[in-house]
Amino acid sequence: MISMQNINQHYASSQILWDLNLEIKAGSITCIMGRNGVGKTTLLKALMGLLPISSGEILLGEQDKPEALHTKSAEKRAFSGIGYVPQGRDIFPMLTVEENLKIGLPVRKDKLKQIPEKIFELFPALKDMLHRRGGDLSGGQQQQLAIGRALVLDPKVLILDEPNEGIQPNIVQQIGDVILKLNQEEGLTVILVEQKLGFARRVGQEFRLMEKGRIVCSDKMSELSDDLIKQYLAV
Ligand SMILES: Nc1ncnc2c1ncn2[C@@H]1O[C@H](COP(=O)(O)OP(=O)(O)O)[C@@H](O)[C@H]1O
Ligand SMILES: [Mg+2]
Repeated sequence: MISMQNINQHYASSQILWDLNLEIKAGSITCIMGRNGVGKTTLLKALMGLLPISSGEILLGEQDKPEALHTKSAEKRAFSGIGYVPQGRDIFPMLTVEENLKIGLPVRKDKLKQIPEKIFELFPALKDMLHRRGGDLSGGQQQQLAIGRALVLDPKVLILDEPNEGIQPNIVQQIGDVILKLNQEEGLTVILVEQKLGFARRVGQEFRLMEKGRIVCSDKMSELSDDLIKQYLAV
């Protein structure tokens, strides 16, 4: 349902993504894995339209009638149903939890004016913190807020960049539960950059291994062997 074809990307004169090809199936949870600096965050930003690509195509939807994303702005890609939770969370520290959550409302097709109750069912802690400033929340609470904010858009595809970085284990567990629940109950397609092997195996159905700005191996999570881990993930 998402197809990235022959993507090249540069930061000024340094090329980071090299003829990258990536296929994501509708309704799947796919983990993008690879060592630090291989280009995982760059790939997600290129997919979201937050970084320009030098060449290549990004297509959304089924093969007979795909929608071209690479010609659209980041905002239009959000309208097309792609939610993004950036690495490091990037919530607005001076805004309240409620204000952070409401930012996505104008992007919804149904013109809803209130934060959907579903967000609080998934993350009950957010309801108790509505009037607290984002910057006063713990790292784990900020991550719940960042995921909640992306879900307010009612996306078809949710992209998460290392959501568990520096977060206490009980919230890691909860984030995993939320991803699995949304995938199983609503068919949400999830693209997850994840370094923690245990978490990737628990929630991921598919993996894509990255090295030097390319996807070098794609398969079902059950096929992620010790040899592949040694070759592409171990530090
Ligand atoms: N804004 C930038 N300007 C120049 N180079 C960058 C920038 N951001 C990242 N890079 C470089 O791009 C490469 C890939 O980075 P990144 O996509 O963040 O990797 P990952 O998420 O896999 O750790 C790294 O070599 C990094 O130094
Ligand atoms: Mg990264």
